[in-house]
Amino acid sequence: MRDSFDILLLPGDGIGPEVVGAARTVMDVAAEHLGVTLNYEERRIGGTAIREEGAPISDETLERAKASDAVLLGAVGHPDFDREPVRPEAGLLKLRKSLGAFANLRPVAAIPALIPASTIKPEVLEGVDILIVRELTGGAYFGEKVEGEDRASDLSVYTREEVERVARVAFEAAEGRHGRVTSVDKANVMATGRLWRSVVEDVAGDYPGVAVDHVLVDAAAMLLIRDPKRFDVMLTENLFGDILSDEAAMLPGSMGMLPSASLGVPGTPGIFEPVHGSAPDIVGLGTANPYATILSAALMFRHSLGRPDVAGAIERGVSVALEAGFRTPDLGGSNSTEEVMRAVSKWAAAGEGVT
Ligand code: NAD
Ligand code: IPM
Ligand code: MN
Repeated sequence: MRDSFDILLLPGDGIGPEVVGAARTVMDVAAEHLGVTLNYEERRIGGTAIREEGAPISDETLERAKASDAVLLGAVGHPDFDREPVRPEAGLLKLRKSLGAFANLRPVAAIPALIPASTIKPEVLEGVDILIVRELTGGAYFGEKVEGEDRASDLSVYTREEVERVARVAFEAAEGRHGRVTSVDKANVMATGRLWRSVVEDVAGDYPGVAVDHVLVDAAAMLLIRDPKRFDVMLTENLFGDILSDEAAMLPGSMGMLPSASLGVPGTPGIFEPVHGSAPDIVGLGTANPYATILSAALMFRHSLGRPDVAGAIERGVSVALEAGFRTPDLGGSNSTEEVMRAVSKWAAAGEGVT
């Protein structure tokens, strides 16, 4: 096991710096406790990079990302840039594409301590444990764009190879979980959906121990709330995965709870970021929920750095803090970002005995 890592921090815009700062403290505490050294470099992405460096991500930052062991990102996006030709979000898309991070893992589980506070009935939520596998470098996000005054289009393209590689990630994940993949598409209307379905069927042949079913995306959106326990691994394309993961955030109870890992071929650095955005409405209040970013740091230790022990310490810190009632306002609580960070840090370093 390696015990020293180079981490590139890209806090970004809005609440990004607040939640990345909290995650950094938690990582430091957990890493130190387990004898791991973290070497950080911090750079700009998004609106702050446009302002200071003239582009949403510089070539140098992309090079530094490629040279790192992993990237921990906050969020990008700011209303000031809504009418600008170059948007902060372009920096994130370029980073994902440049690192070849085609598989975006978004784990969604019901959290026992938060179930009573949810708007969804406890019996629907108890036991929910879903892994959304979202294709991240293809589809309408990256196809040719035409943007005129009176006409606009976004071309959505998928190749067999693009579908196949992300499908393999989903099937392999299912083998280590409950052995079920639900592939979500719009095969009744879209050509990309029909290709998607047929490639997933082909890939399924290589994983006889995994059950596969296909659900149209509109029905999947409904089933996610009606019967979320029917899903184990949910495999889907870029745009559908973006939308369904925000919807799924209501299962744990807030956008502030969902972490993500964006992975390419083995050996390339992964990108770890919360699913939520820059939350312009709460910037600077000190109330941003840092759990999603802290849990993203845990995914980083597990998926990119080969240190499940550090991941486990961080996740333990999160569960104990939640059980103890540390909640930001989005979870119905009144704790600050800093109070949550301190609570998680304390329990992340408390060792195996604490549950
Ligand atoms: P958002 O996720 O930023 O916010 C949606 C709602 O959830 C807001 O009310 C916000 O206050 C709340 N929220 C989100 N994260 C929270 C947290 N950690 N703690 C407490 N409350 C939280 O989505 P939006 O408002 O649609 O988008 C704002 C900007 O963020 C846009 O520019 C968008 O492009 C960008 N964005 C970036 C990312 C990313 O960087 N990965 C993801 C989504 C949106
Ligand atoms: C996400 C975000 C991004 C996406 C935006 C900011 C480009 O919404 O990571 O979910 O759509 O992928
Ligand atoms: Mn999104």
